[in-house]
Amino acid sequence: MSALRGKADIAQKLGFVATVCDDGSPNLSPKGTMVVLDDDHIMFGEIRSPNTIRNLRANPAMEINFVDPFSRTGYRFKGEARIIERGLDEFEALHTRFEPWGALAAEINCIVALRVVRALPLTSPAYDMGKTEAELRETWMAHFVAIQPNACGR
Ligand SMILES: Cc1cc2nc3c(=O)[nH]c(=O)nc-3n(C[C@H](O)[C@H](O)[C@H](O)COP(=O)(O)O)c2cc1C
Repeated sequence: MSALRGKADIAQKLGFVATVCDDGSPNLSPKGTMVVLDDDHIMFGEIRSPNTIRNLRANPAMEINFVDPFSRTGYRFKGEARIIERGLDEFEALHTRFEPWGALAAEINCIVALRVVRALPLTSPAYDMGKTEAELRETWMAHFVAIQPNACGR
């Protein structure tokens, strides 16, 4: 399956990772070290995610959502995760892909690789109401500019 070819635009970088706790409740947390590994795999570096890792060691089920806050579109990727421990040759090979994160890459304890079995697009219901991408980008760009700490009036 080429789940990621041509549609895994994760340029936003920030993915929201869902795992399952042992009581069946959800665990959701953001990861900013997302890398598309190949057509079927997305990975991130575990730096400070004890709950996610604990859950995955018991149950590899995982979903990652990416949303572009300007276009109001994204993708959701579901599958099974594999933990690649620091010290393994595979870790060392994959770790080179995190070089763009500079010093943060040295803090990666293990790598989590999701094998994607289901990939679905996400769109805001605003599109159902006739909004265009250009309109949404303009609206949300203005919003994010306005909420910056140095914005006028703040
Ligand atoms: C913008 C942002 C990016 C983050 N990126 C990562 C990351 O790539 N890896 C990581 O382990 N933690 C990352 N974190 C920190 C975890 O999300 C945070 O420590 C969280 O509480 C971990 O929860 P968990 O143990 O339930 O996964 C990030 C947090 C934020 C706000």
